[in-house]
Amino acid sequence: MNDRLNPNSELEQSIVSVPDLAQVPEEFLNMAQQFQEAMMMYTCAIREVKTKIEVLNDELSVRNSRNPIEMIKSRVKKPRSIVEKLRRRGLEVSLESMIANLDDVAGIRIICSFLDDIYAVADMLVRQDDIRVIAVKDYIKNPKPNGYRSYHMIVEIPVFFSDRKKPMRVEVQIRTIAMDFWASLDHQLKYKKEMQNAAEISEELKQCADVIAQTDKRMLEIRQQIEAQGITVRRD
Ligand code: GTP
Ligand code: MG
Repeated sequence: MNDRLNPNSELEQSIVSVPDLAQVPEEFLNMAQQFQEAMMMYTCAIREVKTKIEVLNDELSVRNSRNPIEMIKSRVKKPRSIVEKLRRRGLEVSLESMIANLDDVAGIRIICSFLDDIYAVADMLVRQDDIRVIAVKDYIKNPKPNGYRSYHMIVEIPVFFSDRKKPMRVEVQIRTIAMDFWASLDHQLKYKKEMQNAAEISEELKQCADVIAQTDKRMLEIRQQIEAQGITVRRD
């Protein structure tokens, strides 16, 4: 019987091919250890920024009886995406290169209720004196040609480890629920470019983004009208 068609035989082969740790070169183990350590540091940086945002949200919700933040999501970039991005940019694929060149290994996404909450949260975050703003991209004032909207910041925050203080970079994306809805679905439709009618689909998606942006503006106006009458928009 052809081995390739026999799943059991394939399984046996893969078990047999698992490297014997005693034989794994020291160099590989060292690299794995260093990578794990770097990722731990990015995770800590995420935790620091996340705590700051949670503190702001708690304070604002007590003061204003309204939560400006609906949700906070975070992630550390997967090894495969790190390698892909370094290759795409023609950079060396190494740990040093990742640390030096990629600003989005640690990522936080803040989902806000209303448009103005985005700027309020961003302002409050950057006013904190241990946060250094490295770059800002306002894709709300200047949406991408495909309709993508979000407020992006690269910030640097010091993280205190046992023997040193290390400035770590975190990408912070701030958007409304509506923008997040569009971006999430847009991301799921990533194979759209391979379609025969790709241009049509892109135009359709852009129109959806524009409708959503209009709706965000109208929702904010409604809240402002209510507040203008001295009524607090509060959350139960
Ligand atoms: P990347 O190589 O994608 O990181 O580009 P960049 O470093 O120029 O950063 P940019 O601020 O343009 O985008 C960074 C991140 O924003 C991406 O990794 C996505 O999470 C998000 N993003 C940007 N453009 C789009 C888009 O068109 N659709 C969706 N769904 N997300 C986007
Ligand atoms: Mg990026």
